[in-house]
Amino acid sequence: LRAVSLILASTVLSEVVSAAAATTRADFPEGFVFGAGTSAYQVEGAWAEDGKKASVWDTFTHNGYSIDHATGDVAADQYHKYKEDVKLMHDMGLDAYRFSIAWSRLIPDGRGAVNPKGLEYYNNLINELLSYGIQPHATIYHFDLPQALQDEYNGLLSPRIIDDFTAYADVCFSSFGDRVQHWTTVNEPNIEPIGGYDQGYLPPRRCSYPFGFDAVPCTGGNSTTEPYIVAHHLLLAHASAVSLYKRKYQAEQRGQIGLTLLAYWYESETEKPEDREAAARANDFSIGWFMHPLVYGDYPPVMRRNVGSRLPELTPDESARVRGSFDFVGINQYGAILVEADLSQLKRELRDYYGDTAAKFVTPPFQSSREQLRSREAPWGLSKMLEHLRTKYRNPPVVIYENGVGHEPDPSGEFMYDDEFRAHFLQVYIEAALSSIRNGSDVRGYFVWSFLDVFEILFAYRFRFGLYGVDFGDEQRTRYARSSARWYASFLHGGELRP
Ligand code: NOJ
Repeated sequence: LRAVSLILASTVLSEVVSAAAATTRADFPEGFVFGAGTSAYQVEGAWAEDGKKASVWDTFTHNGYSIDHATGDVAADQYHKYKEDVKLMHDMGLDAYRFSIAWSRLIPDGRGAVNPKGLEYYNNLINELLSYGIQPHATIYHFDLPQALQDEYNGLLSPRIIDDFTAYADVCFSSFGDRVQHWTTVNEPNIEPIGGYDQGYLPPRRCSYPFGFDAVPCTGGNSTTEPYIVAHHLLLAHASAVSLYKRKYQAEQRGQIGLTLLAYWYESETEKPEDREAAARANDFSIGWFMHPLVYGDYPPVMRRNVGSRLPELTPDESARVRGSFDFVGINQYGAILVEADLSQLKRELRDYYGDTAAKFVTPPFQSSREQLRSREAPWGLSKMLEHLRTKYRNPPVVIYENGVGHEPDPSGEFMYDDEFRAHFLQVYIEAALSSIRNGSDVRGYFVWSFLDVFEILFAYRFRFGLYGVDFGDEQRTRYARSSARWYASFLHGGELRP
């Protein structure tokens, strides 16, 4: 009898142990949402259909500046296939879908007349999502500025963008806010100024020194001042839209509004004080560029010191408007970047944010071989970023709006159905998010980037992030489930978090 009960006890014990080890979604706080995302230019296609006009991305790709001269003219064709996609989301068990609204589809000239067909498209998409009980999480601006505003007054370089953005956001809130309760004003305002105005590899290709993307010659610009001006305008545009939402809509619509930042964690390569300082500085110049003003009303002190008079001032009024202008912070988190101080860089009249800092990716978001894909996961980057937000920025509610990994499609045309590396990657990050929650971080949601293959910002169709693959060689843009899609579905339906 004793032997039997010992065996029983040890079976029970091992079950308890394995039950404790296996995470399911029930371990997450009530109301936690799991989703996946995309953005308008990257999936919609229909670039000039039904009254839509060009965005700066259309111009950029049509001028041949994207890799392989690829464009998002058709992309995954979600504009025509949204019903099919929403059905796939439902089958997968997504609680939420993150998408963005194309400004030049809704307001083709950037300001003024609203395009009824644009309204209709987003109404249809939102209603389709809701009919399956999937929460729409809408981004108002995800890189695709209307070309008209670029032509008229240099787009983000002009303070006029603040009012035009606010008027556009007003149309979004008044048209969709009865059904959309999760708003991101701007996606990654802490990288767009660098890509577009410092290094020049993103539209509108402005920079004052070439960055090594030969295909993308930059056109004028001033890398030492423009990125800060553009970021400043994006910050003020964000704050202005939030204040409008709070004044005019929130009481009735009861939604939440925030912005979404690129959130790599910069870690010192060594224990040397200069390297540690370099890492801290890199964090201040990236996540801190926006978090510091949002929480404390001004840019980080190290930015004030290093950038001096080139960094725009916030008037007391602006500072008050910016401070606290969010209900949550979205983070796009892909791991960590190791940095070390490298004084030789100083001579290169380079950007203040790296300044004398050399950066090495621990987990490049773009990987080629399966071995690399597996060996360079750095979920500790997410943990450290969440800890940083908790301790330095007063523990804001956070939504992880992007996390994922891109692979190079097999040149033979095989579509990589088996992406076990992706399921593994996502699993370890989801686990890291859960530990951070247990350590006190206020994380409200987790979204995979991306729901399906998209036109990737730097690499067009050469890198695939999708849970669902898209056959871009086929006019129908056929979707096919990768093994990661099945893995995520099983977790979302209550299964254990295992690849
Ligand atoms: C950042 C951007 O928000 C998104 O547009 C991009 O495709 C992914 N991260 C991956 O690079």
